[in-house]
Amino acid sequence: MSTKATVEKLVSLCKRRGLVFQGSEIYGGIGGFWDYGPLGVELKNNIKQAWWRAVVQERDDVVGQDAAIVMNPTVWRASGHLDTFADPMVDCKECKKRFRADDLVGAVPAGTHGHEAAAKVSRCPECGGELTEPRMFNLMFRTYVGPVEDDASTAYLRPETAQGIFVNFANVLTTTRKKLPLGIAQIGKAFRNEITPGNFIFRDREFEQMEIEYFVKPGTDEQWHQHWVEERYNWYLGLGMRKENVRVRQLDREELAHYAKDTYEVEYLFPMGWSELEGIANRTDFDLRRHAEFSGRDLTYFDEESGEHIIPYVIEPSAGVDRLLMAFLMDAYDEEEVRGETRVILRLHKDLAPIKVAVLPLSRHEKLVPPAREVWGLVRKHWMSQYDDAQSIGRRYRRQDEVGTPLCVTVDFDTLEDEAVTIRERDSMEQVRVPIAGLVAALRERLETA
Ligand code: GAP
Repeated sequence: MSTKATVEKLVSLCKRRGLVFQGSEIYGGIGGFWDYGPLGVELKNNIKQAWWRAVVQERDDVVGQDAAIVMNPTVWRASGHLDTFADPMVDCKECKKRFRADDLVGAVPAGTHGHEAAAKVSRCPECGGELTEPRMFNLMFRTYVGPVEDDASTAYLRPETAQGIFVNFANVLTTTRKKLPLGIAQIGKAFRNEITPGNFIFRDREFEQMEIEYFVKPGTDEQWHQHWVEERYNWYLGLGMRKENVRVRQLDREELAHYAKDTYEVEYLFPMGWSELEGIANRTDFDLRRHAEFSGRDLTYFDEESGEHIIPYVIEPSAGVDRLLMAFLMDAYDEEEVRGETRVILRLHKDLAPIKVAVLPLSRHEKLVPPAREVWGLVRKHWMSQYDDAQSIGRRYRRQDEVGTPLCVTVDFDTLEDEAVTIRERDSMEQVRVPIAGLVAALRERLETA
């Protein structure tokens, strides 16, 4: 992260500038739920688009899908979530605070669900009081389908998007007529009733995931695993994340989920330490085998080369949109002294910036409004843009810097004579004069070339 960034500064910027708001804020909020404001939703969409472009659009071996959030409850029996998707929870007998036991031991990285550590915890970190015995708590949100609330109508909000892909494997395979290796990608909401949500949007109860299940022939799984680890690590660097803040870590055996043969994490150096952004797991044939068993359907793949039916292995790169959004903001946040004032700046990659271009008339003078509106009309057809004429030009530049707008276009009195405008670049603050007739091309060159 940037040395200038703190979680407090980020939370304040996000609220002040309409990136992220506390969910249901006027009613006092609700823990672990967040709302994205006008600029936040743009940033989030840009992250999802950049991911989709890299893993679906630019590849010929990955296709997309969008499965329902509520699934037949047997899915969660087959996947193991009903039995094992639980965290150890302890309560302080004195101050009544509740903790995830594995967090207290501090041995387990944030964002993982470990169990072994639970037994070692005995005192409350807040007041030193005695803690209850750890109890396992299933993280899936429960609901009922239909008017009757009983066991037979119980269903769950999905805790991961992955299972929606596994249950559609055969559908996608037959309708696309693709061969292995074949990836299926999905972006969607996931829900986990986390015991201790926190660190802003790092650990939420409602969040979005971007997941790929990449089906391969057994025996080629390790090589494809390495491929995806490299691809995904480079994706973060390609979007401007600083190399010193991103790392890849192979999990120890005892950290692996019940379905995984091997897992790597892409981690980011948050203020609370290195924490998971994305997991890249080798899930073997666990899921397809289990779903075949529980559904009674044939989920094998006919391998023409060997003439055999096989159950593919799966490599799963799985990232959280909200967590990535926080990391990209942390990484981009900067402060610098400009003419005796502190300039707050989000050095976001141009593909991620919520607003690409701001059109700023020098003042609200009646002669400047028509050409400025005309310029905005040219720009807004191509990019997410803003028209801002409130306060001094200096303050308006600062406002755009603070939300990461790469380019500002200023319309001034010279425009009336020379039919040209000034493009001002966010990071260098350099200004160039361009004719209005060539403005779209000049902006495209700056925004759309690598
Ligand atoms: N399908 C595999 C899976 O769900 P996971 O490590 O539990 O694996 C994948 O989650 C990613 O989803 C994490 O790397 C993280 O980015 C995101 N994620 C998980 N739990 C989250 C939470 N409570 N809040 C925000 N993001 C979360």
